[in-house]
Amino acid sequence: DTHSYRLHVNGSGYAVEAAGNTALLHILRNDLELNSPKYGCGLGECGACTVLIDGVAARSCVLPLRLAEGREIVTLEGLGTPQALHPVQQAFIEAEAAQCGYCTNGMILTIAALLQRQPDPDDATIRNELRYNLCRCGTHIEILRAARLAAD
Ligand code: FES
Repeated sequence: DTHSYRLHVNGSGYAVEAAGNTALLHILRNDLELNSPKYGCGLGECGACTVLIDGVAARSCVLPLRLAEGREIVTLEGLGTPQALHPVQQAFIEAEAAQCGYCTNGMILTIAALLQRQPDPDDATIRNELRYNLCRCGTHIEILRAARLAAD
């Protein structure tokens, strides 16, 4: 059954026609052409598909469209622009914290959400926050360095 759902993404309103149990990730990528959230596991376990929902990092691959309606959704496209990078994006560049880049979207959004509510987290807090974001290339040391840079 398809219905019309109203989404609020990166400050703009959208109407989408889809089944309510469609994963938000697919709507973002296929309907809205916002390709920063990545499809990794599709099971809510790797964090590649992370978006912010009302300021909280969430797994869009397991979030049904009907539960996303009316919430404030931010993807990496809405965090900063090439001209005005978000501090976490800038820190990722400075720390050279990307290898293949597939996890980067989720890492940046998760750190941005953390710094929003806790501007000066210690290492243990950053590590704990990132425990559900997997990087298979092993760039965790640089990612931690980027998080610390962004917090400074
Ligand atoms: Fe959503 Fe892995 S693709 S958590």
